[in-house]
Amino acid sequence: MCGIVGAVAERNITTILIEGLKRLEYRGYDSAGLAVFTQQGHLERRRRIGKVSELEAAVAAEPLVGNLGIAHTRWATHGAPTEGNAHPHFSGHDLAVVHNGIIENHDVLREQLKGLGYVFTSQTDTEVIVHLLHHTLKSLPDLADALKATVKQLHGAYGLAVISASQPDRLLAARSGSPLVIGLGHGENFLASDQLALRQVTDRFMYLEEGDIAEIRRDQITIWAVDGQPVQREAVQYHEGAEAADKGHYRHFMLKEIHEQPTVVQRTLEDRLGSDHVLVQAFGPKAAELFPKVRNVQIVACGTSYHAGMVARYWLEELAGIPCQVEVASEFRYRKVVVQPDTLFVSISQSGETADTLAALRNAKELGFLASLAICNVGISSLVRESDLTLLTRAGPEIGVASTKAFTTQLVSLMLLTLSLGRVRGTLPAGVEAELVEQLRRLPVRLGEALAMDATIEKTSELFADKHHTLFLGRGAQFPVAMEGALKLKEISYIHAEAYPAGELKHGPLALVDADMPVVTVAPNNELLEKLKSNLQEVRARGGELIVFADEKAGMSNGEGTHVIAMPHIIDALAPILYTIPLQLLSYYVAVLKGTDVDQPRNLAKSVTVE
Ligand code: G6P
Repeated sequence: MCGIVGAVAERNITTILIEGLKRLEYRGYDSAGLAVFTQQGHLERRRRIGKVSELEAAVAAEPLVGNLGIAHTRWATHGAPTEGNAHPHFSGHDLAVVHNGIIENHDVLREQLKGLGYVFTSQTDTEVIVHLLHHTLKSLPDLADALKATVKQLHGAYGLAVISASQPDRLLAARSGSPLVIGLGHGENFLASDQLALRQVTDRFMYLEEGDIAEIRRDQITIWAVDGQPVQREAVQYHEGAEAADKGHYRHFMLKEIHEQPTVVQRTLEDRLGSDHVLVQAFGPKAAELFPKVRNVQIVACGTSYHAGMVARYWLEELAGIPCQVEVASEFRYRKVVVQPDTLFVSISQSGETADTLAALRNAKELGFLASLAICNVGISSLVRESDLTLLTRAGPEIGVASTKAFTTQLVSLMLLTLSLGRVRGTLPAGVEAELVEQLRRLPVRLGEALAMDATIEKTSELFADKHHTLFLGRGAQFPVAMEGALKLKEISYIHAEAYPAGELKHGPLALVDADMPVVTVAPNNELLEKLKSNLQEVRARGGELIVFADEKAGMSNGEGTHVIAMPHIIDALAPILYTIPLQLLSYYVAVLKGTDVDQPRNLAKSVTVE
């Protein structure tokens, strides 16, 4: 949710910290701050509400120069987004901490620390950590020893970075439930909550594991595992293009990511397709043995990833004949779940760090599922590490908070799952897999055709400029696509948008329809088309304006109050992937028209690592 950057070097590290924060800003962005051990021999901090650019301006106005520092972008959980609540938090003048995550027992600890004379200056749970560490240092003067003792008293989730003016040769880190990575340099080392923040300074990384504590010096890294024993963590080279964090010639990351979809879908398919079938090994070495046993599928995810799961349910039941349930992770994790025998637990997540999805996976392990599969975009994420099987979505870093390319690559991955399960279980009708494999190969080109509708959709977006409410309709597997379209629109344009299965229209939402409420419909050319057309008549009869994305062969045409946008023809099973594109573009252009912050919509965060 929030972002951490730290550095220990021979050169001045302030610009490295700020550049790192900018790269993490997509994760949380209501305030930012940094603390640097200055050449004058003390810790100094700058904090600002708002974006990292505010902090950058503050540092430019009053420069900080030093070789050791930590920095943070915050997305408020405990305490309002104020300067006083922004990290780093200090205890006294010579100890500073930044923190991602949530400390659940902060109230109890706060009372104890107050009893010891500590005065709190913020409402954050983080300030508890820094005072507790300060107190512990009195009996354990070595910073690493004190941190080890301190984290034992913390309940909850944390990624921590710590510096002390009295031990200025080192940067300390602790990970439990919130990711941290060490960036390896030459005579300098770095720390961040996401390697993206450090791509400017290194391409070699060491990922901390759950419970690890690390001491990072300029020329040495020491790591202790959860049992307190020193451990070595493997250094890995990162190959993803460094340009991923740049917008290129696009005005926003979101538009860039929408246009990357043909490429990343292609990449997601690479080395996973045989001549006429999906390679089951793509899901990991245990898949060939496990998949034939699967009799049910339980999908769990949040947000956009949940919508991908809902599409997959139609596919798994229709194409592979496998019963499938889909649930949002925040509900699943707190419900008494009855697990059918031989059920595969599938989690879907762009980040692989979403707190609810991770908790659902951990619960699932206790519940007797056959095995767990993560469909995820981040190979080194907690979700992937903790699952039995993995299929990576290969969308590359997604910076725009509103998910786009992650969704379509999830859908492609879920189609691969459907075909694999269907074949190994013998439930896929003959010829279907070969036909779909062929169509998947052509999909990147079809997505390119949909993207070529860009200008038409930009024009259509004008219909929404002065609207406050919209309805999205779909039927069958296009219903979740309508849900995703509505989510995109509300996330970035702040227009209230709701999605309904078109058949439900007359059971309530029709009462809302009038000339001020545009109704967006996805209408591929399948057996539900005639029923959908009747639903649209119901809207027109109430004066509602229709925007219909329809298969070019669906025989639908423009009319009074009806705007039909012809979509390239595609096999029905893959239509949800193709129809997602114009809905993403529509939201994007409406948001641009409304002048909102497209890549960083208000109140939202890219990766929700707290509950
Ligand atoms: C946040 C993001 C959404 C995302 C959801 C789930 O709400 O803003 O775009 O769909 O989290 O995230 P995940 O990383 O698990 O897919």
